[in-house]
Amino acid sequence: MALSKIQLLLLGCVIIGVAIAGYFMMRPTDSLQGQADADNLEQVAMGQKIYAENCASCHGVKLEGQKNWRRQLPGGGLPAPPHDQSGHTWHHPDKLLFNYTKQGGQALAPKGFKSNMPGYGETLSDGQIWAVLAFIKSKWPDKIRRRQARLSEQSQRK
Ligand code: HEC
Repeated sequence: MALSKIQLLLLGCVIIGVAIAGYFMMRPTDSLQGQADADNLEQVAMGQKIYAENCASCHGVKLEGQKNWRRQLPGGGLPAPPHDQSGHTWHHPDKLLFNYTKQGGQALAPKGFKSNMPGYGETLSDGQIWAVLAFIKSKWPDKIRRRQARLSEQSQRK
């Protein structure tokens, strides 16, 4: 039995309809995964909590870092740098910040460098790591946020 033209047309409409509905249903979760959006209030709020529980002990309650963070510690390695605009977090693209948090400093540091930055791959989900980065970014002034966003874009195109 061959399908009539009308039946084919209807079938076509259904398929396109399902595809469009599917696209819109997938979108909200997509936008939370794989990116740290400082304008997403929900993501930032989630990140704030995660930051307080996991990061503030070293990087500071106000993201101010540890004292003399540029100076090597007697036991080797560095103190935790600030995550606010006075540090160098915003000099790095998103992907690097994500990997550094997930894998920890030792996995990514050059040979011979002793890192004091733990990896969070075992304790935080990818979504939680993106959220904490969204919170950190939300504390930067607009100008710095734009610069870091450009940097992230450029590094993605490479
Ligand atoms: C035990 C202390 C400690 C804790 C806790 C800690 N960090 Fe760090 N972190 C460091 C140190 C020290 C560095 C400096 C680089 C190094 O030694 O590897 C660093 C560096 C980083 C960097 C890369 C460098 C930069 O300029 O920002 C990121 C990103 C980072 N930390 C994010 C986090 C996040 C997010 C958390 C919480 C989930 C966290 N850290 C918890 C000690 C810590």
